[in-house]
Amino acid sequence: MKSTVLVMVAAGMFIAGPVAAQSAADLVKSKNCMGCHDLEKKKVGPAFKDIAAKYKGNKEAEAKLTAALKSGKGHPAKVAATDAELKTLVQYVLSAK
Ligand code: HEC
Repeated sequence: MKSTVLVMVAAGMFIAGPVAAQSAADLVKSKNCMGCHDLEKKKVGPAFKDIAAKYKGNKEAEAKLTAALKSGKGHPAKVAATDAELKTLVQYVLSAK
């Protein structure tokens, strides 16, 4: 019984990766990021593409931006999202091209 649960958890983790990546575009919409941002164009905030270019090669970018969105310091809007969601959002922004 215990091992069945472990296998299910492991399978869930395996599936969660690709699914999270696919739903990132939906997540930025559902968190209203697109009200101020656009992938390609500057709106109220900078284009995600430009942010990705600005932080290209910066290993600290993910941690820094996650903290900024979470606290509302360094970002005008405080984002209500779980840590996992924030991670997905930031990875999505940083992978925009
Ligand atoms: C109320 C408008 C608004 C909303 C909503 C918003 N942003 Fe922003 N965002 C901005 C503005 C304005 C800036 C530019 C801030 C600056 O350069 O000081 C910015 C900057 C950023 C940056 C770059 C910060 C940096 O240090 O360069 C990231 C990443 C970002 N936003 C992600 C998001 C994500 C993800 C969401 C949705 C969860 C979101 N934003 C929702 C207005 C918004």
